[in-house]
Amino acid sequence: MKSTLYKEFSKIYNKEAENAFFSPGRVNLIGEHIDYNGGLVMPCAITFGTYLLVSPNEEGLLRFRSLNFDDKLDIPLQSAYTKTGGSWFNYPLGVIEFFLKDGHPSHGLDMLFYGDIPISSGLSSSASIEVVTAFALNNLLDCGYSKLELVKLSKSVENNFIGVNCGIMDQFAVAFGEKNKALMLNCDTLDYQAVDSNLGEYILAIINTNKPRKLAESKYNERVSECQSALTSLKQELDINYLCDIDTATFNRYSHLITDELLLKRARHVVEENDRVKLAAVALSNNNLAEFGRLMYASHDSLRDLYEVSGKELDAIAEYCKTDANVAGARMTGAGFGGCAIALVKESAFGSFRQNVIAFYKDKIGYAPSVYSSLIGDGVGVLAGAMIRG
Ligand code: GLA
Repeated sequence: MKSTLYKEFSKIYNKEAENAFFSPGRVNLIGEHIDYNGGLVMPCAITFGTYLLVSPNEEGLLRFRSLNFDDKLDIPLQSAYTKTGGSWFNYPLGVIEFFLKDGHPSHGLDMLFYGDIPISSGLSSSASIEVVTAFALNNLLDCGYSKLELVKLSKSVENNFIGVNCGIMDQFAVAFGEKNKALMLNCDTLDYQAVDSNLGEYILAIINTNKPRKLAESKYNERVSECQSALTSLKQELDINYLCDIDTATFNRYSHLITDELLLKRARHVVEENDRVKLAAVALSNNNLAEFGRLMYASHDSLRDLYEVSGKELDAIAEYCKTDANVAGARMTGAGFGGCAIALVKESAFGSFRQNVIAFYKDKIGYAPSVYSSLIGDGVGVLAGAMIRG
């Protein structure tokens, strides 16, 4: 694929790609819908991601092409852009606009993107394309932003240009990911530790529901504002900035302040999930995969019952996993509303797991999921020319 990408660039633009970059996608092991509530999350970068080949042009044009989509854009350099429709190029366009507004003179750019993250799968293809673009521009224009600044600006593009009020987890994970490590990230302070994701005899399976995600963005923003309302209620008596500033015991003492049943459920998920991440970190460092798996199932149940972002497709996967003795734990990962589940599966049994989960899901849902075994990879970086020339 990498060599094809290089050839495609030459075919489209009639010249060689001078620079190449890659940013991965991510899975989140545990800590869901926590980042915008100032708590702890545990994502990892995966080896699927977004490639960007780019060369400057003299015409003062930004040219966007993708091998995944037919829609393309040629647009002159100007001081501001607006999001147009739902097209993929809005993500890099929003990032470039940020650089221009921040006073970085640019020149025309010929860009070719290719992603091998399944589209709409909840594995952060949007953070991946934002961060690869930000990293590339920082490099090409010599802007001197730190990696954390690139993460923050990519998040602000998602919030303000795209219109999704996401937290910082995805952009952080795809930028700072490390091979075979999970990131223990505090989304309030942005302190993090890369911890060994020693899974012993288990591997990480990704099961894509292949359910088209509809209304995911508006439902996501709805959850964000529900959390804000619950926080406002708690602030009547508690001096806190985020729901994750309190643990479950404190929450139980003050939960009467949240009088709306629905908001109470949302807030309970957040507070308990944040406590689960702390337990999961201990379990992982003790190589206690059974405990880690139990916490994954508990996380899934809470996302299903309290936060209500799962769905029959993701639930079917978790339900199957609970019956399979070769699976330590499973849960939906990412925002939910379709997308992917992850499972810790004994490596020696991955083949039969794959067959059985596909059969179970197909029987229940009517079509097949896709099942991958995933490697934990590095964050964003430059790709050496030789690598992409094949
Ligand atoms: C999406 C968002 C993240 C995070 C997760 C849920 O992936 O982009 O910021 O909120 O959902 O944990």
